[in-house]
This record gives sequence, C-alpha cells and structure tokens, in this order.
Amino acid sequence: MKILDKKVLAEREPRIVYLEVLAEEICKAFKPGQFVILMVSEVGERIPLTIVDKNLKNQSISLIFQEVGLTTKLLGRLNKGDGLYSLVGPLGNPAEIKNYGRVILVGGGVGIAEIFPLARAFKEEGNHLTTILGARNKDLLILEEDLRKMSDEFYITTDDGSYGRKGFTTDVLKELLESSESQGDRYKLIYAVGPIPMMKKVSEITQRFKIKTLVSLNALMVDGTGMCGCCRVSVGGEIKFCCVDGPEFEAHLIDWTELSLRNKIYEDKEKHICKLYKLVT
Ligand code: FES
Repeated sequence: MKILDKKVLAEREPRIVYLEVLAEEICKAFKPGQFVILMVSEVGERIPLTIVDKNLKNQSISLIFQEVGLTTKLLGRLNKGDGLYSLVGPLGNPAEIKNYGRVILVGGGVGIAEIFPLARAFKEEGNHLTTILGARNKDLLILEEDLRKMSDEFYITTDDGSYGRKGFTTDVLKELLESSESQGDRYKLIYAVGPIPMMKKVSEITQRFKIKTLVSLNALMVDGTGMCGCCRVSVGGEIKFCCVDGPEFEAHLIDWTELSLRNKIYEDKEKHICKLYKLVT
C-alpha cells in the first residue's frame, strides 16, 4: 500500500491528485468500473475511489481524486514513499462492457477519471466512441489527451468558457442525440460519470430519446460489503446497495432526488471538521 508516484493534475483548489499505489492482488483482479475503499490513517474514515488504471509491471493501481473533504485532503498530503493505512478491493461489479455500436461517454469533473478505464474497454470491444468531457474551467480538466486519443469523436465543455465550448456536457449530448435521430444513426448506449446534477440531466435527456443509459454512482460508503446499508439507493422502486449491486445502474430507474439528498447528509459536518483540522481557509 506504498505510494509509488504522485502527481497533482489540477493545482487550482480543490486540487485533483493522481496516486499510483502498490497493490499486487488488486492490480491482478481489477476490471473497469470497480473501486477500492481506503483509509489514510487508523483513526480516519473509509472512502471509496474508482480504480483508474493498473500497471502489471509495477503491480500497482492508479487513483485520481479531488480534495473536497477531510479524507481526500489528508490523502492529498501524502507523498511518494508514504503508505496508506488500509486498501481493500477491487470492490463492486465490473462495468457492462460489450460491443453496442455507437457509444457516448460523458465525464464531468473528477468523474472524467472514471471514464478513462471505460473508454479503453469500450474501444477494445470495437465500439464507435464519442467522448464529452466537462469541467468548471480549463485548470480542472484532466486526462484530455489520453481520452482524445481513444475517441472517434471528442468534445470539451467548460462552465466558464475558458476552454472548449462554454456550457455543459449535456448541451453537447442533446445536440448529438437530436442530429443522430434526424440522420437515423442512433447511439446505442450513453454512459455518464460525474456530479449528480449532471448525471440526472443526462438521464432526463436520454429518456426522451429512449436510449439505454448507465451511470456509475459514487455513494457514501462505510464497509463496502453490503452490510451497513450506508450506500443504499432506490432503483426501479427497489433498495439497492451501491457497493455490492453497483456502482453501475440504469440511470432511468434511479430516484435522483433521494440520491442527491442522501449525498448531502454530512456536508455541514464535513465543513466543520475540515475547519477543525485547518484544512480550509
Ligand atoms: S457501503 Fe455498506 S452497504 Fe454499501
């Protein structure tokens, strides 16, 4: 669980950080879509992070995270040579990868990191890949060149217009779906990973076009083995656990309102504890 490499991908707050971590067994077993749960220290919380890549030669996995809470800020303070207290995985079900034909991947914010292993896997299956990436601004955009190389069509949006097109990923998605409908050249799968409002909007748009849509949810987790119930989400009127039933779900079946309320449960406490640790100004 030693950190073999560290890079700061986005310096602007909240920073986005890349870590390569020695994890022999996880590296061998990992499939795209799966995640790990880690602890920075013995007294810290457990957080889930999607595995971005593996390096068989180094027997390592790559993780990318944004410093948005206490644990990710503490994780971002670790350096090459430091060790994690614990690392469990790979957890969750692998993504449903097959040849659909025309696929659109939508990645928002640090969700772009989760798009990366999916893009490679979908491409290897022979899909025609359209990738739409969105970030708040140019400085927070990650993995652009890697994903551009894998994609047949590639679009970038920034909220403030500092790079690519000004606006949101969903603006581009809507236009692509409208034009493909009029040309009779339908997309068969939309896969979105990013902030909940983005995934919810993607779901609303694709529902109108009746296109299968998958999302990877980053729910709050504790044990990651289906025992605590912390990561529950309503899907098609049933209670599912993100850690063992997901993290991939059919977007059109998710109760998005409940999910966004649940993910905000600890927001105030998180801010409070970060101030106690003097991790925010
Ligand atoms: S994290 Fe406990 S049930 Fe999923």
